[in-house]
Amino acid sequence: MRLDKFLSEMNLGTRSQVKKLIRQNMVTVNGIPAQNAEMKIDELTDRVCLRGNWLPYRRYAYYMLNKPEGVVSATRDNTSRTVISLLEGCGAKDIFPVGRLDKDTTGLLLLTNDGELAHRLLSPKKHVDKTYEVMLEHPLDREDIRRLESGVSIGGEGLTLPARVEVLKPGQIRLTIQEGRFHQVKRMMLAVGNGVRSLKRVSFGGLELDEGLAPGEYRELTEEEIRVLTAGAQPESEKPGDFCKKKIAAQDEENDTDETRNVTGY
Ligand code: URA
Repeated sequence: MRLDKFLSEMNLGTRSQVKKLIRQNMVTVNGIPAQNAEMKIDELTDRVCLRGNWLPYRRYAYYMLNKPEGVVSATRDNTSRTVISLLEGCGAKDIFPVGRLDKDTTGLLLLTNDGELAHRLLSPKKHVDKTYEVMLEHPLDREDIRRLESGVSIGGEGLTLPARVEVLKPGQIRLTIQEGRFHQVKRMMLAVGNGVRSLKRVSFGGLELDEGLAPGEYRELTEEEIRVLTAGAQPESEKPGDFCKKKIAAQDEENDTDETRNVTGY
C-alpha cells in the first residue's frame, strides 16, 4: 500500500494533508524518515510512526457511542436525526450501527464498517449478551423474575431465551438478554404486566459502556475492546461462561432477531 493512502486511511487527513506531514519529516517507516508519499509499505509488518507515535494498521473503524434519546439507529432517515450524524467528524467511511436501539433508548451502540464482525455479533445463533439498565413502572416480584429468566411469550416467535435479572433497587433492574428482537425488553416487561420508564444499554458482547462518555459522545474502541468483541462473537461451542446453554439450544431454532436487519455493510 502507498504510504499516503495508509496515512489517510488512518484518518490523518486528505492525501494532500498527509503529504505535507511527510514533507515535514514527521513520518517514519521502520525508524527512517519517509522521503516520499508514494513509497510502498507493508501495512501489516512495517512500523509507521507519526511524530514518534506508532500507527498500528486498522482495516476497519470501530466506535462506541453513548446514544442519546431522540436519535434513530439508522444510517439515514427522512425526519429524525441519525446516530451517524453524531459521528460526522470521525472521518471513517461507510460506518453503520450494529443493531438498533429504539429512539428513546440510550447507551451503548457500536458503529463500524466491519460488516463481517457486525454480522457475527447480530447472528441469532451467537447469543451475544446485551445488558440493559431498566427503570420500571413497578417493582418486580419473585414470580416475574422467574418468568423473565426462564422465557416469556412476547409475540409469535416462541418464548424469549433465558435471561438474567439483577434487582438494583425496587423498580430498577439490570437485564441481560441474548437476542435482539424488536422492542424486546419493553415487550418482556409487558409480558409480566409491567412497563418501561427508561432503558439504557450498558454492555454488548462483553463491551462495556464507557461512563466517561456523555450522551451523544463517542470514542474509538481500544485494541483490547476489539479483541473482546471478536471473542464474544465466536461460535457458541467456543464461548466460555455462557449461562443456560441447554435451554438456549432448545429454543434456538424457533427464534429470529430484529437486529440482524441493521447489518448494512455485509
Ligand atoms: N429492547 C427494547 O425494547 N428497546 C431497545 O431499544 C432495545 C431492547
